[in-house]
Amino acid sequence: MKANIVVLPGDGIGPEVLAQATAVLSAVGEAAGHEFTSEEHLIGGAAIDATGKALPEATLAACRAADAVFLGAVGGPAWEGAAERPEQGLLAIRHQLGLFANLRPIRVFPELVDLSPLRPQAVTGVDILFVRELTGGIYFGDSGMSGGEAYQVMKYSVEEVARVVRVAGEQARARRNKLTSVDKANVLEPSRLWRAETARIMADEFPDVEFEEILVDAMAMFLLSRPADFDVVVTSNLFGDILTDEAAMLTGSLGMIPSASIGESGPGLYEPVHGSAPDISGQDIANPVGAILAAAMGLRLSLGLEKEASAVEAAVATVLAKGVRTADIAGGGPVVGTAQLGRAVVTALAL
Ligand code: IPM
Ligand code: MN
Repeated sequence: MKANIVVLPGDGIGPEVLAQATAVLSAVGEAAGHEFTSEEHLIGGAAIDATGKALPEATLAACRAADAVFLGAVGGPAWEGAAERPEQGLLAIRHQLGLFANLRPIRVFPELVDLSPLRPQAVTGVDILFVRELTGGIYFGDSGMSGGEAYQVMKYSVEEVARVVRVAGEQARARRNKLTSVDKANVLEPSRLWRAETARIMADEFPDVEFEEILVDAMAMFLLSRPADFDVVVTSNLFGDILTDEAAMLTGSLGMIPSASIGESGPGLYEPVHGSAPDISGQDIANPVGAILAAAMGLRLSLGLEKEASAVEAAVATVLAKGVRTADIAGGGPVVGTAQLGRAVVTALAL
C-alpha cells in the first residue's frame, strides 16, 4: 500500500524517540513492500521559536492531508510563562482533527514486573485499555482570570459522551468484553450526564458487554489495589489525563506507553504518553518504546496493517526479553541508548 505520513518531532526527547519510531516504520515498509512517504513539520515549542505559533497553518494542512500523524512530545521550561505555550499546539491539533477518542493501552510486560512500584503479584497480567475523551470537558471549557479569580468550565454534551463510549464499547468487544466508566457523578453535574448517557448507550447498544461505573477517587485507589481486574476504561478528558499517568507507572516506566488519538474519520495521531522530559533530552538515554508502540498503533488503526503492527509489538517484546533496556527499565542490569534500542527492534522485526 501507499501511505502519506506526517512526522511532528516537537520538543525535548520528542525528536529522539520519534526518530526510532520512524526508523521502525521505514523498516516495516521495506520488509512488507509498502510505500510510506513522510513529511516532517513543526509543532510545540519548536514551532513557536520558528513561526510564533504552536500549531502553524502549514503543519495543520499537512496533517489534514495525511493518512497518519506521528508525534514526539511538546513542552519545556523555555516556553513557560510565554503567551503562546507549546501544549496549545497539541490541544489545537486534537481539536482541529476531531480526535475525540484517546486510546492508551497499559500492559505490564512479564519481563518487567519487577520494575513496578507494586508487588509483582499485584501487576502480573495487567492489561487495561483507557479510552480518554480528548476534545471536550474542562480542557476546552470557557476560562478566564481577573480580579484575583480564575475559572474554567467543565461541559459535556450527550453526543460527546455517546461517541467516545461507542469507541470504548467496540474496543471492549474486541478484547475481554468488559467496560468500566469513571466519573465523579456524586459531585459534578457533567459527570451525572456522563453517567446517564453511558448507561443508556451500554444498555441499548452493548448489552453483551459487562459494564460497571466507578467514581474517580475510588478508581485511583483500585488502580493500585486491583489493577488486573480492569479491561477497557472510559472516562472524561481530565480524569483520563490523570489516571493514565498513574496507570502507566504500574508498568515500571511512563516511557513504555503509546497512545492513539482517533476521530470519526481522517488521520489518527500517534504519540507516546510521556512528555518532552527536557532534563534528559539530547543525551540518547530516553526510552523509545512508547513511541515505537505508538507507531504500531498507527499501522493498525490508520493504515489497517494488522500483521505489521503485531510484528512491531512482537519485536519490542523480543528485545525486552533479551534484556535490551534503556536506563529507566534496566533495573540495575546493562543499559543501552535510545538509538541502540531502536536498532534492536528493527533487527528483531520478523515480516
Ligand atoms: C497528555 C498531556 C497533555 C494533556 C498536555 C501536554 C497538554 O499531558 O497528552 O496526557 O494534558 O492532555
Ligand atoms: Mn498527560
